[in-house]
Amino acid sequence: MAEIKITVADDGPYVIEGGVNVVDQDGDSYEERDVIALCRCGQSDSKPFCDGSHRTAEFSSSPRASES
Ligand code: FES
Repeated sequence: MAEIKITVADDGPYVIEGGVNVVDQDGDSYEERDVIALCRCGQSDSKPFCDGSHRTAEFSSSPRASES
């Protein structure tokens, strides 16, 4: 099984590396890629994917694992 890595980008999306299959509520798949970025700010016009809108929205969130 391939290793999957999810990075919580500072002030940005969840970046997922490792070829995951993202499906909608109906079970239909989006285009599969080796690296994807899922919107974390809620401002993307391409949800569930990041379209860079977090920058203009000045989204701010930089959590660290050591804080949990
Ligand atoms: S995290 Fe990039 S558009 Fe929301």
